[in-house]
Amino acid sequence: MGADRRSFSIHQLTMIAAAAILLLLAVIAAAWTVARPSWERYQQAYAQATGEEADPAVRSLTPTLTGEPELCTTCHVGLEEISPSHPLAAFGCVTCHGGDRLALDKDRAHSTLRGGRNPSDFSVVEASCGQANCHAGYADPERNHIERVGNSLQATYASGIALVRFSFGAQPDLDGRYGAIPARDPRPAPGHPPALDPMPVSSEADLTPALIAQGVSVSGHPIDTQFRQSCLNSGCHLSEQPKPAPYAYRSTSCAACHYLYDNDGLYKGDDPTIDREEAGHGRIHRLTTAIPYTQCNHCHNRGNYSLRDMAFTSRPDLPPAGEPLSDFLPATQRRLIEYYQPIGQFTLCEWELDCVDCHTGQEAMGDGHIADAIADVQVTECRTCHGTLTEPPRTALITEPDETAMRQARLNGQGDLQVGDRVVINSQGEKMWAVKETIPGHFEEMLKVSREVLDVPLVQGSACQQQPDQQESRYCHACHAYPRDDVLESASQP
Ligand code: HEC
Ligand code: HEC
Ligand code: HEC
Ligand code: HEC
Ligand code: HEC
Ligand code: HEC
Ligand code: HEC
Repeated sequence: MGADRRSFSIHQLTMIAAAAILLLLAVIAAAWTVARPSWERYQQAYAQATGEEADPAVRSLTPTLTGEPELCTTCHVGLEEISPSHPLAAFGCVTCHGGDRLALDKDRAHSTLRGGRNPSDFSVVEASCGQANCHAGYADPERNHIERVGNSLQATYASGIALVRFSFGAQPDLDGRYGAIPARDPRPAPGHPPALDPMPVSSEADLTPALIAQGVSVSGHPIDTQFRQSCLNSGCHLSEQPKPAPYAYRSTSCAACHYLYDNDGLYKGDDPTIDREEAGHGRIHRLTTAIPYTQCNHCHNRGNYSLRDMAFTSRPDLPPAGEPLSDFLPATQRRLIEYYQPIGQFTLCEWELDCVDCHTGQEAMGDGHIADAIADVQVTECRTCHGTLTEPPRTALITEPDETAMRQARLNGQGDLQVGDRVVINSQGEKMWAVKETIPGHFEEMLKVSREVLDVPLVQGSACQQQPDQQESRYCHACHAYPRDDVLESASQP
């Protein structure tokens, strides 16, 4: 009996213990559901989306550049590595973004982010991209991208501002005085302004404390306040936020060109924290120098600016962004509709090639000096690649393994350039790394985005009827313009 009683009481004890454990588990489970860390939800969502097995765990990464652990990827699991030049294992996240590296609470982790979403925004670019040995502080000015971009026409719009103010009699000549952002060049080149002030306002009454703090002056001319407002709100310049609209979604500063946004503004990567339905995100977390025409077009050719009412009117003729146009319209013809306004005139290569196949790093980012005329910065011409009736294109040899052209070819990922290769140069002497003279008199161009290789036809030896002193594109367009409407018409016949 004793044994029975004992076994009974053990059984009873076991039951009580089991019940207690069950109760405890239930309490823990309830508490867990209420206070389950959000990072676990993100990891679960990631596992579900990729079909991988869920293995919820805090993820710590110690980038070699800082030697300090970061927990960001605990939530940002699946985020794409930003680029092969900025490997995750070396950079981590905080080197660029800032943030509280050990926080597992979203708000605390983000409390000290640099520039919110965009660490390359002009307001913070020096602290992020401008760190030692990154994109500033070199003896070779060509590597100081931050200074170059800040002084470039695409950031300051100095030429456009000068032109409008001159047309309205607000200034006596076309010299650049003001920028959409102020600029300064400690070593000004002849013919370039040493500095640009922020755009002025018309009268004292228009000054706010914030404008005074920015050093904004009073011009006394009636157009300035209105021009300032419509210009700075138009979303065209590198420093300004874009219009939140299809085709116009983009970032600011370096990311405006190097971080690609789709026309529909939707994120298509694998980070479960980023809303995939909310328009206004880059396509994936990726920096690139292979910039497709769509990226430049988030600003270029999106509409027309009317001087009469100082307002920007968006193009009415664009098809819905992101949707396939039609089964029988190839990508190049889609581009004809998306990019070119019906009034524009272009040759075949202008719409077949991407903008960066012709417009170089120096044209896009400037050369460091403040530019106040488009002519100063327009250094690639039609004859750069095609030559003239009497001359082949100008060329130069690649001589150094680390010169800019070599760097550009390497960063593209597909560029095949060696010391000893001969490439075309533009009027500034800048080497066009993707246009090679492969055998004497024969030129080939590798397209930077599609990587297709094309033969470049020369004017010399052809039946071209150009005049030697008429090299600007408008002269060429008179004979070589591509008939946009013909293409569209032929494309709509299945
Ligand atoms: C607890 C989870 C969590 C942690 C930890 C976390 N994040 Fe985030 N992060 C998010 C979520 C969720 C979003 C999406 C935007 C939102 O909900 O606020 C986000 C958005 C961002 C954004 C975009 C911000 C914007 O304004 O669009 C950046 C940049 C970012 N995180 C960087 C970091 C960095 C760097 C770290 C580490 C220091 C980090 N995050 C740690 C959850 C987290
Ligand atoms: C080389 C610098 C660099 C590094 C390193 C880097 N990022 Fe970014 N990140 C950027 C830039 C530039 C953007 C562009 C944002 C924009 O303006 O669209 C960005 C965007 C983001 C966004 C916002 C995406 C969106 O569409 O909302 C998140 C989130 C983010 N980064 C998190 C991280 C995390 C987490 C890490 C580390 C795993 C990291 N980043 C590493 C430069 C960097
Ligand atoms: C208006 C567009 C535009 C903007 C804005 C821009 N870039 Fe560029 N960037 C280019 C183009 C075009 C190239 C040349 C790509 C090629 O030919 O392969 C380039 C090349 C580069 C390269 C590689 C070649 C080299 O010169 O070393 C780096 C690095 C670079 N950019 C950094 C930056 C940084 C940093 C910023 C912001 C301060 C920035 N870029 C802003 C268009 C831009
Ligand atoms: C954030 C908006 C924005 C983006 C993105 C942008 N641009 Fe521009 N771009 C401008 C503005 C503003 C001007 C100045 C126009 C003027 O002064 O009339 C300009 C001027 C130019 C010019 C003429 C003057 C010069 O600086 O050479 C060229 C060429 C050019 N852009 C090419 C490009 C290319 C190529 C890209 C893509 C790699 C690009 N742009 C992306 C806004 C932008
Ligand atoms: C086949 C080469 C080529 C391609 C591709 C090309 N351009 Fe150009 N672009 C030129 C040349 C050459 C000029 C100088 C015009 C001249 O000679 O009159 C120019 C001029 C410009 C200007 C200054 C125009 C002005 O108002 O004076 C801008 C802005 C510009 N291009 C932007 C772009 C953009 C954006 C793209 C891509 C959608 C692009 N270009 C594609 C060759 C090209
Ligand atoms: C960066 C080099 C480059 C520049 C700059 C350039 N082109 Fe071209 N061009 C090409 C290439 C490559 C082709 C061959 C296209 C093909 O085979 O589809 C071409 C083809 C042509 C052709 C023959 C095809 C046709 O239309 O029948 C003409 C004409 C032409 N370009 C005119 C121009 C004009 C005008 C400009 C200035 C606005 C210009 N190109 C600027 C690279 C360039
Ligand atoms: C008055 C008309 C006219 C003007 C202006 C003109 N071209 Fe031509 N071009 C022609 C004709 C005609 C041909 C021969 C076409 C053929 O053989 O199919 C030609 C041939 C060419 C070719 C060779 C195309 C090939 O496929 O072999 C190139 C490149 C070219 N032109 C570039 C230019 C450039 C660049 C300009 C401006 C600086 C220009 N042309 C101005 C009429 C003109």
